[in-house]
Amino acid sequence: MPTDTKITIRRPDDWHVHLRDGDVMRGVLPYTARQFARAIVMPNLSPPIASADAAVAYRERILAALPDGSDFIPLMTCYLTDTTDAADLAAGFADGVFTAAKLYPAHATTGSAHGVTDIANIEAPLARMQEIGMPLLVHGEVTDPGTDIFDREAVFIERILAPLVKRMPDLKVVFEHITTADAVGFVESAGPNVAATITPQHLHINRNAMFAGGIRPHAFCLPVAKREKHRLALRKAATSGSPKYFLGTDSAPHAVSAKESACGCAGIFNAPFALESYATVFEEEGALDRLEGFASEHGPRFYGLPLNEGAVALERADAPVPAVIDALGTPVVPFHAGEVMRWRLAS
Ligand code: DOR
Ligand code: ZN
Repeated sequence: MPTDTKITIRRPDDWHVHLRDGDVMRGVLPYTARQFARAIVMPNLSPPIASADAAVAYRERILAALPDGSDFIPLMTCYLTDTTDAADLAAGFADGVFTAAKLYPAHATTGSAHGVTDIANIEAPLARMQEIGMPLLVHGEVTDPGTDIFDREAVFIERILAPLVKRMPDLKVVFEHITTADAVGFVESAGPNVAATITPQHLHINRNAMFAGGIRPHAFCLPVAKREKHRLALRKAATSGSPKYFLGTDSAPHAVSAKESACGCAGIFNAPFALESYATVFEEEGALDRLEGFASEHGPRFYGLPLNEGAVALERADAPVPAVIDALGTPVVPFHAGEVMRWRLAS
């Protein structure tokens, strides 16, 4: 549909975002709140959000930092640890504090040091989640250093996720930020209780982007981008119209100094132009008519939440992406820095 000059879709949600805390949160939150009605907020702060009290306090800080007039709703998640108590978790879900719980395998990524060291340690909370219909959000990578970093997602499916889904066939699982054809294949073969989010970066870049003419820390996130064949499988899945795939940016801001370092942090800050970025992919795939399902319908249906009222429009106009964005005193490089997007969110 290259002749389209405007696309109007139901207000979308972001089913996976890192909002951080403090000044950086105040600096980055407006970008998410401007584009999305709701967002699933990741709990990997330091210390992690691992109790209902901590989630309530964090939600208050987010709400207090919203721009005037914003009706953005943060949906909170519980960080699972080896000692998560099934009853506390279920109570937090019943009280409407937690929308879901997040599994970080210990040391898989940024802020995962308190994560789960062995899935056997959370068998009771998982069984309870299955009973009460509480979604499990999964960072799907094995962590043993013997597994090649580009194989960690595929090995996780084989060793952890497939056996889990078999053991708990009714557990609602969101396989977060999938990066491989293997993950697409797994999600396809599973029941309707297994879905996946897909980030803009994994639809746009393959692993070469990290080494284009030199080392490119701003293209590094976890799970790391894979080979081109995987990117193509993700594009096909995202634009297929299947209700199993929905929008989750994994926007993960880090200070420029923390990225451009001898040991640069994982994470891509894509919130400022997220919808524009997804729209570009859907247009390239000739699937603009499927953007609304991916961005605004499949997620709430999976979570059992109402669809948003209202609409947002993207118009055909040049939207130059700045080289750097100031997050209230912290400079952060956005995804697509220096490029010109061909769609712009109408204000
Ligand atoms: O690249 C990533 N950054 N992947 C994650 O899983 C965590 C995130 C972060 O918090 O920076
Ligand atoms: Zn994330």
